[in-house]
Amino acid sequence: MESVIGGNYCETLFQLEKQFPEKFNDSGLTSLCAEFLNAALHTTTTAIDSTIALLCEHPEVNEKLYREIEAVVGKRAVDESDLPQLPYLSAVVREALRVWTIAVTTLPHATSELRKLGGYEIPTDAMVVFVLESFHLDPTHWSDPSIFKPERFLENDLDVLGSKTFSFLPFSAGRRVCPGIQLAMFEISVVMARLVQNLEWEKVPNVKNTEIGTVFRARPRSL
Ligand code: HEM
Repeated sequence: MESVIGGNYCETLFQLEKQFPEKFNDSGLTSLCAEFLNAALHTTTTAIDSTIALLCEHPEVNEKLYREIEAVVGKRAVDESDLPQLPYLSAVVREALRVWTIAVTTLPHATSELRKLGGYEIPTDAMVVFVLESFHLDPTHWSDPSIFKPERFLENDLDVLGSKTFSFLPFSAGRRVCPGIQLAMFEISVVMARLVQNLEWEKVPNVKNTEIGTVFRARPRSL
């Protein structure tokens, strides 16, 4: 069988369509691409929005982040290779994903066999949905769970896979874990770093926050 590995996602799908026309057609390919766009765009942009809102609410965190970027990278635009040298940026991004859980629940999962959990019997083939937000706001894992405090991620060094304690799993965990983790973490981190590098934000005074979030304004740092 001719290998289909090595191209990008769309090239791979087109090759599969040619090789297995009985399994892949244009409409199937369209939904596979749409799934990726839907799963990727709304989540990542909401994560960036909510991180900006949290920085506006916490100017001391914004300032500390700016100082870290200025000390490590200077005036040049932050890029992917800088990320390992920016621990506070990583802590801010992870803490924002904890306080403001983007995917509140997982997609539907199913049990492959009868299981007992917390005194309940879960039958085979039951649909199971995990509420990820409840892990993130669990006071047995987090002190003052609703408070935005990036420093906690400097102390605990939890990764985004939830593999260590099941207390932090913004991308879910296990075999159905989000396949876009690396892209999402890279995009959120680089976009946030560049925004903080270039813009000063403030909450607009005397305006009540709207249902959709914090009202803020931004201006270039150099002015
Ligand atoms: C902040 C950004 C993101 C968050 C918080 C997030 C979170 C999640 C979560 C919680 C799931 C469900 C996993 C489960 O049911 O156990 C999921 C699934 C998925 N995500 Fe993401 N995601 C993000 C970004 C992305 C990106 C950038 C992509 C693609 C480039 C992506 C592609 C997908 C796909 C295709 C699925 C379905 C996987 C399946 O059906 O098994 N996600 N994501």
